[in-house]
Parts: sequence; structure tokens; C-alpha cells
Amino acid sequence: MNNPVRVVIAQILAQPSDEENELKRKLNLPLFRLDKIDKSIAPFFLRVDRNGLALHSTAEISPGELRVNFSSLRFRVNNALFKQNLLKAVGARRGRRPKILDATAGLGTDSFLLANAGCSVIAFEANPVVFALLEDGVMRYKQLGIKEEKIVSNLFLKNEDFLSTESVSNEIEVVYLDPMFPSKPKAAQAKKGMAYLQELVGKNNTDAKLFGLATDIARNRVVVKRAKKSPFMSMAKPTLSFKGGSCRFDVYLLNRATLPRIDS
Ligand SMILES: C[S@@+](CC[C@H](N)C(=O)[O-])C[C@H]1O[C@@H](n2cnc3c(N)ncnc32)[C@H](O)[C@@H]1O
Repeated sequence: MNNPVRVVIAQILAQPSDEENELKRKLNLPLFRLDKIDKSIAPFFLRVDRNGLALHSTAEISPGELRVNFSSLRFRVNNALFKQNLLKAVGARRGRRPKILDATAGLGTDSFLLANAGCSVIAFEANPVVFALLEDGVMRYKQLGIKEEKIVSNLFLKNEDFLSTESVSNEIEVVYLDPMFPSKPKAAQAKKGMAYLQELVGKNNTDAKLFGLATDIARNRVVVKRAKKSPFMSMAKPTLSFKGGSCRFDVYLLNRATLPRIDS
């Protein structure tokens, strides 16, 4: 992964709270008094408040805080979920819920939608700050009730680089890839999320490695999310594509009998 952008943790009161200290320990990031944080200290800071963990920018013109709020996805969850391209691309339908590995989970939107459909999802996120936001979002969502707890019980989060993973279940049917892409999404929240992620995580040139490992692990298919007009990942022509307004899901159906395995 790239060298991470500097992030600090805001200390709100004269003494750090237990949550702030815990975050400092977990992420190994420094604490700064909130009134001392500006762009000369860091481009981003994390702040814990009664609504959980949020990432803030110190830029003069900033789109505001970013936190993982799965409740805001209610419309997508309730709007013909199985007819959405993401679900069609992974091959989920009534009576069939593939086991999925999301290798690039980010803020967890896609993993969450897949978990809502009843798929079991192992979600890898390498960046520790992004992972902390994701984990916090899952924790708050599951506190909302039994139904919510059941949905997120389908999600298994891993703060790991997928490319360095040593053991993956051999029952993974679908590997899902959504590495960073330059985008112009319409929704303000999506725009903010993507802009923050692009600055925090940067762009890695690991597409070929991600694609190679994904095709080695998946038993049934690899699904790659791309911006509508982006070239195919690794220049590999997909078996089929599902095209939407701003993005495309390229599906690579794998014929296990003919694909070479990298076991050594
Ligand atoms: C475009 S975002 C994914 C957005 C996600 N699909 C969502 O619905 O929120 C890409 C994410 O993949 C992560 N990532 C990139 N390469 C990775 C790797 N090798 N292992 C784990 N995470 C990775 C980045 O840190 C970034 O957070």
C-alpha cells in the first residue's frame, strides 16, 4: 500500500476520553487538542462523538465529516435489492446466496448490500483509518436491533491487505474487487466518501496482482466494479458486464477445469 496520509485524533476535553485513548492505542496515531488542529498539523483528523467515529478534513473548503452510516442505505436495501446490478453480477438470487470475499471493502457499502441479501461476506480493508470507520459503522448498526444484528452477522471484517493474506477459505465462490477509480458520482455523500478515500488511500498500481489472486481464489467468478468508461481490469475481457448510470460490474466466470492454479 502507499504511504498513508497523516491523520491525527482530536481530543475534545482537557483529558483524553477512554475512547480517544483506545483509538490512539489501536491506530498508533497522535492525539491533539481539537482547537489546535489545523491543516499544518494534518489534512485529516478523527473525532469520536456520541454518534460514533467520524473523519474530518482540515481543508478550508471541506465537504464535511465522513462516517459510516448504514441506515442511510435503507432506500437501496428496500428498492428491489435483487434487481440491482451488484447483486446480479455476483449471481445472488432467491435460493442462491454465494459466499463472497470483498477484497477492497472501503466504507463497506457494497459489502453491506451483499450481507443484506443474505450473502456471507469476508471484507478486507487494508487502510487502518478506513477500517476503523467501517468497524465503527458496523458496531453502531448492530446496536439498532435484532434484525440489524442479524444482517451484520453475515459480515466478517478483516483489517488486512488482501494481497498479503495467508489463508482464505476454499469455499469462496465470488471475489469482488472495487479498487480506487477516478469518478464523478452524483450523490454528495458518495462524492465525499470517494474524495476522502482517494486522498487517504491514494491510488495503488496493484490491479494486476488483485485480479490474479482473485481468479486464483474464487471458485465461481470474479466481479470487478469499474467507472462506466474505465478500461477492463488487467485488460481482461469479461464474460459479461452489467452497466449502470455511473459504474459497470464486469463479471469473469471461471472455468475451474481450465484455469491454472497457483498452489506452490
Ligand atoms: C473504492 S474503495 C472501495 C469502496 C467499497 N466498494 C464501498 O462500497 O465502500 C477501495 C478500498 O480498497 C482498499 N484496498 C485497496 N487495495 C487493497 C488491498 N490490497 N487489500 C485490502 N484493501 C485494499 C482501499 O484502502 C480502499 O479503502
